[in-house]
Amino acid sequence: MEKTLVLIKPDAFTKHYSGDIIKRYEAEGFRIVAMKLLKMDERLASIHYEEHIGRPYYNDLVGFMTSAPIIAMVLEGEDVIAKVRKLNGKTNPAEAEEGTIRKQFAANGRRNAVHASDSVESANREIHIFFNETEILDGQYEAME
Ligand code: CDP
Ligand code: MG
Repeated sequence: MEKTLVLIKPDAFTKHYSGDIIKRYEAEGFRIVAMKLLKMDERLASIHYEEHIGRPYYNDLVGFMTSAPIIAMVLEGEDVIAKVRKLNGKTNPAEAEEGTIRKQFAANGRRNAVHASDSVESANREIHIFFNETEILDGQYEAME
């Protein structure tokens, strides 16, 4: 079953949108197989956003991502990577479709409420930045359903 990394970013966390956002993912039937509250530091941000190092917005992005706690989670489901990207909506909420999480909760193209992995390769890399194997409870779900 496919997995993806989702982050609830500092803007959404500090505005107390976390529960509403998690509810959107649960409503789609995705399983939460890992979750933690943490505060990113510059080192963690530079690993997670390594492909953005050197871009004009990079320093502001890191400042934002390290400004307050975030929630990191791993969601599991069929085609979950593409489906979560679609549910999140476009990077800039001004361009995001009605009904998407970013349309509803994002402030702007930087403070945009959520992150989600964009490919299988990114998901595998990003999940293991935040979680080790023992923290991912995928195998333990079946017995509960
Ligand atoms: O998050 P997503 O994959 O939709 O977008 P991205 O192009 O991979 O950029 C990663 C993050 O950098 C965005 O979600 C924004 O928070 C931030 N960003 C920004 O602050 N200014 C930009 N011009 C582009 C991205
Ligand atoms: Mg991206």
